[in-house]
Amino acid sequence: MRDASLADIRIAGATDDDRMWAATLMASSDPWRTLGRDLTMCVAVVAEAADTELFIAHGVQGADAAHAPLGFVLLRARGLAGSPYIVAIGVAPDARGSGVGAALIAFVERHVSPSRHLFLCVSSFNADAQRFYARLGFAHVGDLPDYLIDGASEIILHKRLAP
Ligand SMILES: CC(C)(COP(=O)(O)OP(=O)(O)OC[C@H]1O[C@@H](n2cnc3c(N)ncnc32)[C@H](O)[C@@H]1OP(=O)(O)O)[C@@H](O)C(=O)NCCC(=O)NCCS
Repeated sequence: MRDASLADIRIAGATDDDRMWAATLMASSDPWRTLGRDLTMCVAVVAEAADTELFIAHGVQGADAAHAPLGFVLLRARGLAGSPYIVAIGVAPDARGSGVGAALIAFVERHVSPSRHLFLCVSSFNADAQRFYARLGFAHVGDLPDYLIDGASEIILHKRLAP
C-alpha cells in the first residue's frame, strides 16, 4: 500500500481484540523493546483508562469491507499541561511508510479540535519517528535525559494546532 490517506483508512475506537493487537505490536517493536516494555506492560498501557482513548486504523477496500488493523494511536485528552498528549502510536511493520501514521495523526488533530496544542514524546534513539513528526509539523520543546532508560532522552514535541 502506498500513500494511504484518511479516505483509504477507517479509524475507530478499539475493541478488546484491538487492544491486544496494539499491545502485541508495541511489545514486538522498537522503541518499546529497547525501552524494556514487555507484553504485560504494553497490555497495561493500552488498557481502558479515564481520559484515554485508543483508536485503530483499518484499511478499507470497496464500500465497507474492513481489513486487518494497520495501526493504532493512544490519546490522553489532558495528558500534558492540560492539553492532548499522544501516549503511543504504532503501525504494523509491513504497513509502515505508506501514510497510515500520518493519517492517524491527522485524525487526532481533528478529534482534539478545538484544542490549540498537541504534545507527544519520542525517544532520542528513534530517528525515523523524529523525522516523521518533524515532517508533520511537530517542534522540539524539551528533553528529559535518562527518563525511561539510562543513556536515552525522551524528547518532548509540540504542535500548535490553532492560533
Ligand atoms: C513512526 C510510525 C508511527 C510512522 O507511521 P508510518 O505509517 O510508517 O508513517 P507514514 O507512512 O505516514 O510516514 C512515513 C515516515 O515515517 C517515518 N518512519 C518512521 N519509521 C518508519 C519505518 N519503519 N518505515 C518507514 N517510514 C518510517 C519516516 O520519517 C517516513 O518518512 P520518509 O518516507 O520521509 O522517510 C511507524 O513507522 C511506526 O510504527 N514505527 C515504529 C513505532 C514507533 O516508532 N512509534 C513512534 C513512537 S514515538
